[in-house]
Amino acid sequence: MAFYTYILQLQLGGLRMARILSYLKPYRIAVAVALLLMLTELVVELIQPLLMAKIIDKGIMQNDLQEVMKWGGIMVGASFAAFAAGVINSFYAAHVSQSFGFDVRKSLYEKVQSFSFANFNHFPTSSLITRMTNDITQLQNTVFMSLRIMMRAPLLIIGGLGMAFVVNVKLALILSVVAPFLFLFLFWVMGKGGSMFKEVQEKLDAVNSVMQENLSGIRLIKAFVRRKHEVKRFTGTNKDLRDGTIKALRLMEVTMPVLLLIMNLCILGVLWFGSIQVNTEGVKVGEVVAIVNYATRITAAFSIFSWIIMAFSRARASANRVTEVLETEVDLADLWDSRKDLTVNEGKIEFTNVSFQYPGTAEMVLEDISFKINPGETVAILGATGAGKTSLFQLIPRLYDVTGGIVKIDGHDVRKMKMENLRRKVGFVPQEALLFTGSVKENISWGKEDATMVEITAASVNAQIHETIMNLPQQYDTRVGQKGVNLSGGQKQRLSIARALVRMPKILLLDDSTSALDMKTEAKLLGALKEYTCTTLIITQKISTAIEADRILLLEDGKLLAEGDHDSLLKTSGLYKRIFQSQSGEENRNYA
Ligand code: UTP
Ligand code: MG
Repeated sequence: MAFYTYILQLQLGGLRMARILSYLKPYRIAVAVALLLMLTELVVELIQPLLMAKIIDKGIMQNDLQEVMKWGGIMVGASFAAFAAGVINSFYAAHVSQSFGFDVRKSLYEKVQSFSFANFNHFPTSSLITRMTNDITQLQNTVFMSLRIMMRAPLLIIGGLGMAFVVNVKLALILSVVAPFLFLFLFWVMGKGGSMFKEVQEKLDAVNSVMQENLSGIRLIKAFVRRKHEVKRFTGTNKDLRDGTIKALRLMEVTMPVLLLIMNLCILGVLWFGSIQVNTEGVKVGEVVAIVNYATRITAAFSIFSWIIMAFSRARASANRVTEVLETEVDLADLWDSRKDLTVNEGKIEFTNVSFQYPGTAEMVLEDISFKINPGETVAILGATGAGKTSLFQLIPRLYDVTGGIVKIDGHDVRKMKMENLRRKVGFVPQEALLFTGSVKENISWGKEDATMVEITAASVNAQIHETIMNLPQQYDTRVGQKGVNLSGGQKQRLSIARALVRMPKILLLDDSTSALDMKTEAKLLGALKEYTCTTLIITQKISTAIEADRILLLEDGKLLAEGDHDSLLKTSGLYKRIFQSQSGEENRNYA
């Protein structure tokens, strides 16, 4: 097993492989059995030319039918043994490779689940999908192949050479001069192929990325009549992939004829030199036949080898891409000294001199922000697009860490709380409502796994979506998303609000979640929210929504410009007054 791993590592290049290969450990017995069976096949293959030589020299040349029968029988028996070994080997190889793939995929999936928002910014979704599917399949196939035939190829070459020496030293020398050069040649090809296939995999990423964007934005593309443009963009990346793959395959295609040419010349040499020896030095015909037979088998092994090298070059690229994800450091985790006993009880929120910039960017998105929100208070956050409202929200459930300052909930730094405890008490309604494939009921109870029907209905009533749901074909059991009904933007928003409400959160964060609602429905919703004993933050661009809140925070360019209720802001903030006037239809008069 250790030897097998070592060889595999050598082939795949680099110690980084060790990480992927360690996934084979649980299957070491199955690997050992598979390798043993493979060795059985190999031994049979190696002794076959020898048996053939015996049939020729002892049987056919001496006209002795008995000997022909005897050696022929052994040959048939050995072949059957090899056949049986091959079938069972396949069984084990499939078991090991599939389980290996399953395990790697599982780890990768779990890793991605633990990713922070910042990590996701680093890996595009399409690339993660390619890694989880295509790259792992590549690795899986390589493990299967290596257990089934890969290891046989180099061993057959070495063993074949050895056996040739047993048969006839002088003739074997011809073979052994050529073999090392071919080995070196193949290793060179492998190095070259590795980097080429890495590029191929990246191009596949690009194709997947364009495809994903196209599929998710298909309605927009149609609405903007941008089909031609998108087709062109897709064709471009697709062409890139094709050209890259062809370039890499071409290297492999040249490899094969070169190999065959050299080996066939070598066989010619054996035949020529062998016939001289048969005539002058009494070398047996069977021996020459056996050596030629070894040479053809070695040739076949070399050609399998070159094909395997291609698979390995691809696998190496894939292995690197998979380990890259596995080795990514999740930058947002529970700190070692985070306190288990802390949860959100009241919902007091306190920002002290908070500044924030997205990891890997240079621009400050929030600067020196300080405010306090008391438990149960409803606060509106008002600001132009790009002002930093969503960014500010994300700091509360610690989706990102602050760059400077402190965010405190109930008097405790959020970094000191266990993320699960913190997030469990926060109801977050993101700016873009997202529904999962499943029933309406499932989508709402997604916010609280053990929610009862009463809780689900109550949340829906308060989110002002109950009536709409009752008008759907199967009410709460209606499927939404794939193969289900499509909901309007406003309906989706309210469904996401119901999902947040069913958790009975201590802190409710609504990110522009009422933007698609008419005034009347919105007013009802805001009224219903008052029933909940939770601190509510509402991001909005509408003054009419902000007026309903106890307090308003006015954000501009990442800075907290003003805070207070509607009346006091009208007096103290020029910007607020301007927004108010523009939204109450007084814009024209103002600028006249
Ligand atoms: P926000 O997303 O916080 O703005 O981005 P906002 O106030 O919510 O805007 P609307 O109303 O939804 O449109 C604030 C700044 O942060 C940057 C953006 O470029 C923007 O200038 N940003 C946002 C990033 O750098 N990275 C992100 O992942 C998101
Ligand atoms: Mg936003």
